[in-house]
Amino acid sequence: MRRKLAAGNWKMNGTGAALAELEALAARYPTPEVDILICPPATLLERAATTVESSGVAVGGQDCHAESAGAHTGDISAEMLRDAGASAVILGHSERRVDHGEQNEDIRAKARAAMDAGLQAVICVGESLEQREAANTLDIIGGQMSGSIPDQSTGENLIIAYEPIWAIGTGKVPTLDEIGAVHDFIRARLERRFGEGVGRSVRVLYGGSVKPSNAAEIFGVSNVDGALVGGASLKADDFSGIVDALRAM
Ligand code: PGA
Repeated sequence: MRRKLAAGNWKMNGTGAALAELEALAARYPTPEVDILICPPATLLERAATTVESSGVAVGGQDCHAESAGAHTGDISAEMLRDAGASAVILGHSERRVDHGEQNEDIRAKARAAMDAGLQAVICVGESLEQREAANTLDIIGGQMSGSIPDQSTGENLIIAYEPIWAIGTGKVPTLDEIGAVHDFIRARLERRFGEGVGRSVRVLYGGSVKPSNAAEIFGVSNVDGALVGGASLKADDFSGIVDALRAM
């Protein structure tokens, strides 16, 4: 059985004051029956890790460098994230693919570094609106999966997040059938590449405009093991609505 996961990506939001939201979330979930992960900006990571100590909430990074150390001004390695208290890192988010020109092979190298450092890699895949309208969604996702998922992946160190780019921060969500078709496809590809055991143990999250009001129906779709949430992860009340919908499944 795959353990459900509610993951929040704060993106470039939050200063010290935002830790009050994390504190409220941690207080609400001392021992939840689902995994909860919040990825704050790197500046908050260490304080965030202290804030969630002895709760059922874990913290993670939003990106890492492919190397463990060196002359890379402004970058952060997987070891550094781990040292700051992270247990996971989001990789290949579409905002990084667009803002920083990240390619599948970059993401694969980062994922290797993350796994070697003992972090779970949350690898994001997803199509643009143009690609969906041209009926290229599954081709794009298949290519992103083969290009960015390392061979050393297991159900413990890999999590996939399916995030249609056009659904991120827009309030638009694919139909439940559309979500199910992509998640079934991702599951089948994982099983084909890694075998049934590993393929069935990797968690596949949906991301893109998940809110308390639509979470339950999305979590009811086959092969949806949780969510990667942006905007609605910033407030403990909103995110709790999503966590509770997942706990009720
Ligand atoms: P959103 O972002 O929930 O604000 O749409 C999702 C994401 O980018 O992970």
